Amino acid sequence: LSRQLLLSLLLLTPLLFLLYRLFGNGVEDPIKYIYTLTGATALLLLLVTTSISLMRPLANLIRYRRTVGLFAFFYALLHMSNFIVLDMELDLAFAFTETLDKPFIYLGMIAFAILLFMASTSTKQGFAKYARYHKAIYLAIILATVHFVMAQKSLSLGQWGYLAGIGIIAVLKLLQRSGIVKF
Ligand code: HEM
Repeated sequence: LSRQLLLSLLLLTPLLFLLYRLFGNGVEDPIKYIYTLTGATALLLLLVTTSISLMRPLANLIRYRRTVGLFAFFYALLHMSNFIVLDMELDLAFAFTETLDKPFIYLGMIAFAILLFMASTSTKQGFAKYARYHKAIYLAIILATVHFVMAQKSLSLGQWGYLAGIGIIAVLKLLQRSGIVKF
């Protein structure tokens, strides 16, 4: 079994867990549950993707970065499909007015558009040409984070922990890039 294949299987476990919960023991609000699981997984995998370059001096995992990034896109795609297919029931006109109505939804749409661009230019040729635009991952993470905070009425302890994690990664990244600290 190649390591890439093992990694892909590992990255599929949130999806298997989602299907198991949806079809196994009844989830109270399936649409809400799909939003939470796919959205949180996408955001978490985006953080892992950016952390891979942060960890380079400790462990060189660059060859796995693309796979993790593509899975982040995959979960964002499921999340977006949940909105269009299950929540809006494919009523595109209604989806459009809902989007204009709720700023947090169009922030999500912009984040998704960035991920779509990155996924479709992640081939060898594409990356050779567009690598520098892949810095847009930071913008996608910021937009997706604002989007998810805006979607909540109040934040749980886990969500605060998540935001703290994002903050710590951001500070470490800035230190690494500015060269103030060598690591
Ligand atoms: C087309 C793009 C998107 C649409 C239409 C969309 C739609 C939504 C909606 C309607 C909710 C609220 C769910 C609820 O509380 O009932 C939500 C929550 C959320 N979204 Fe998105 N989203 C989009 C993109 C993204 C992206 C790209 C990410 C992450 C990378 C993301 C992460 C999240 C997270 C973490 C939540 C919180 C889930 C929770 O309530 O626990 N979204 N999204």
